[in-house]
Amino acid sequence: MGHILVRGASQRLQFLVLITACGLLYLWFSYAHPTRHPSSLPIPPKYDKKKLPPPPYERLWKWQENLPQHNLSLPFPEGRTGRYLKFSCEVKLLGWNNVFNELLMNAHLAYETKRAFVFQDYFWKEDYYPWPRSQSYHRDILTPLNALIAGPTAGGPWAPGDDTPRSVSDDYWQIVCPVNERKRIYTRDVKPHIRNSPGDEIFAYWKKLIMDAPERCVEIVPSSQEEDNYPQVFDLWLWGSSRILPLWESFSKSPTSLLLETSPVVKAVIARNEYLFVPRDRAGWTINPYDRMMAMHIRRGDFKEACLRLAYWNSTFYSWNLLPSLPDPLDLPLHLGWNTPAYNDIIIQRCLPDAKAIVEKAKRAREQYLAGHVGPQGRNLDIMYLLTNEKGAWLENMKEALRKDGWSMIVTSNDLELDSEGMDVSMAVDMDIARMASVFIGNGWSSFTSNIVHRRLVDGKPPISMRFW
Ligand SMILES: *[C@@H]1O[C@H](CO)[C@@H](O)[C@H](O)[C@H]1NC(C)=O
Ligand SMILES: *[C@@H]1O[C@H](CO)[C@@H](O)[C@H](O)[C@H]1NC(C)=O
Repeated sequence: MGHILVRGASQRLQFLVLITACGLLYLWFSYAHPTRHPSSLPIPPKYDKKKLPPPPYERLWKWQENLPQHNLSLPFPEGRTGRYLKFSCEVKLLGWNNVFNELLMNAHLAYETKRAFVFQDYFWKEDYYPWPRSQSYHRDILTPLNALIAGPTAGGPWAPGDDTPRSVSDDYWQIVCPVNERKRIYTRDVKPHIRNSPGDEIFAYWKKLIMDAPERCVEIVPSSQEEDNYPQVFDLWLWGSSRILPLWESFSKSPTSLLLETSPVVKAVIARNEYLFVPRDRAGWTINPYDRMMAMHIRRGDFKEACLRLAYWNSTFYSWNLLPSLPDPLDLPLHLGWNTPAYNDIIIQRCLPDAKAIVEKAKRAREQYLAGHVGPQGRNLDIMYLLTNEKGAWLENMKEALRKDGWSMIVTSNDLELDSEGMDVSMAVDMDIARMASVFIGNGWSSFTSNIVHRRLVDGKPPISMRFW
């Protein structure tokens, strides 16, 4: 597994993957949140983010606090005799998608060690937050995890008959696991033994260590930034390399993956915008619009520099985008000299395609998907959703070219109407629309794309429906 494009996997290379993953995320956030101007609709934007405050989520916090497992009287393995695992090393102040893949894997490790996963809020990096820091209701800028995801990782139930303890909040951990009852495991004592090991070996090593601890409460404590830039159990060096792939088998079949759900907040934002996707032909509301939808993730702006950096650092695709079952691996011709113009051209084409290439890719992806998948009523694909920061002439011209090519309905991220909760979770909204679409085309270097690929594969969507530029 995993011999797709590894042209020298040095730490420096991985560093780049990292930087790019963060950069991609940054770009994603910076365009997911600006003031929205539905360009194709004659209605003025209803919400002005300057006037609309961030969501206080008072009831959601309260609901989280009152989860039924937050009860000291519950019998083992929950309650005051229960077993708990907290990752104090979880990455903070990074884009949501870098946090998301890590916290799911941590939850999977907790499940495998039969301990309750201690879930934490999402800590925003100030630059990515749609509001000025001064408007945050807390000392840090926080979103409750249950606004972003649902399922057992965020405290939902496991399958009937599964006696694994349910995840608990960080506040409850402070109560059920007083400081003097915690066994601390320091990442500095563990990571040197398994640095650069394949993901399954890293997982097994931690699993044994945690299983062997007799203490009720285990806390994984990070080393300092100077010692280890990314002191996570599953760190960005791992996510940015094919070493992650041996974990796919167990992770994708885990209850953590299978029971992962879209949050009610995200579902509500999508539901109120779904009319935008309803086709105008007679079938109208009777069809599921996602059956006829292709979603494309199009990054623009100052992205060229990021793509050239990827080329320079021989960077591989990110995480699950490296799965060998997917149809568009990054296969570079071996004779191409590194850092030559021809080499950089190929990377740019894969990372930042121009409008013509985008329209062409959509056409081919549609043909190849339809060739293998005739759904109900002789399925067609004619609804396009564009996840994009782009506005203005470039986008309008491309939409025109797509229309000529048979895409009769084209909606972009900018067309969605978002209230303050919608603005707070907009990255998860776009992700979920891309999850549901029949076909998705993304950027292989992006963690946002990789998290979408994860959910689509777990949902049982065929690999031919997951494409990369
Ligand atoms: C806590 O758990 C005990 C034991 O199952 C139960 O009797 C009690 O009603 C629970 N308390 C709350 C507030 O749910
Ligand atoms: C990228 O790979 C080429 C060929 O293997 C190598 O010569 C070059 O030093 C690598 N670049 C970096 C920045 O590691």
